[in-house]
Amino acid sequence: MAEFVRICSQAEIPAPGMVKEFQVNGRALCVGNVDGAVCVLDGTCPHEGGPLGEGSIEGGKVMCPWHAISFDVKTGSAEGEPDLKVEVYEAKVESGELRAKL
Ligand code: FES
Repeated sequence: MAEFVRICSQAEIPAPGMVKEFQVNGRALCVGNVDGAVCVLDGTCPHEGGPLGEGSIEGGKVMCPWHAISFDVKTGSAEGEPDLKVEVYEAKVESGELRAKL
């Protein structure tokens, strides 16, 4: 069953408009900050495996650095690519840590 696990300390959360990659339990996750709202997505782009955590926030979405496909941070849907989707995890900041339900 999915449980909340620690992703990083609150201080390590990227600044508004930024993304960062974290390795948790052997998998890459992308943490994004959209105007103060923190999101946690799978860090591997479903297109060709690009590192979403090394991408950017564009128009409120996470943009992959390889071919610039953007992903909705709530649904994981790819803009203009109906067959592509990335997993989005429920996240919360608690006791000075960012946690996500993995
Ligand atoms: S690998 Fe991410 S857009 Fe192509």
